[in-house]
Amino acid sequence: MKVTLKVNGRLRTADVEPRKTLLDTLREDFLLTGSHAGCEHGVCGACTVLIDGEPSRACLMFAVQADGYEITTIEGLAPAPGELSVVQDAFCETHGLQCGYCTPGMILSAHALLEHNDAPTREDIVEAISGNICRCTGYGQIVEAVEFAAERLRKTNAPRNVTGGSDDEPSIDPAAEAGAREGGVLEAAATRQGGRQ
Ligand code: FES
Ligand code: FES
Repeated sequence: MKVTLKVNGRLRTADVEPRKTLLDTLREDFLLTGSHAGCEHGVCGACTVLIDGEPSRACLMFAVQADGYEITTIEGLAPAPGELSVVQDAFCETHGLQCGYCTPGMILSAHALLEHNDAPTREDIVEAISGNICRCTGYGQIVEAVEFAAERLRKTNAPRNVTGGSDDEPSIDPAAEAGAREGGVLEAAATRQGGRQ
């Protein structure tokens, strides 16, 4: 059946089986491969996306259930092609990642926290990322990254809200994007064209 989902501020259409997960639809139909498949039963958080700004498991949701919600993937956080969001940059600077498999979900969870609270305590951060499992870093540098990002956001008052967009933005047929494996870059470019941060 046909679904039209609002992903990173843009309407996207796909023809999917009703049983197809949001995660598989994002990855296979929209080529947004930043959301990772780990356990695929709601434990690891590698598939985390933001649904109306709240971290959610894309592996536990059917694509058809996501109709009508604002979905943000890691590809939607970059302010422009080749640039990183404040949180992404903080993860790089503090070495908050190794293999990177958990990192998109971790960053989206951190981003959601900092949207509401730019002065989180260490406990707030630990709680916010508690649904995201990392097998590499031991979490110390991840917590440090979120603290560093919060500090920068407080100092710079940088714009953080990347979700949104208007309903009159063009609908995108995934077939037209077949082969666009650099989906993250396209996503960032589209975000810029849409006039959002
Ligand atoms: S892949 Fe969704 S929680 Fe692990
Ligand atoms: S960086 Fe490898 S799982 Fe987190």
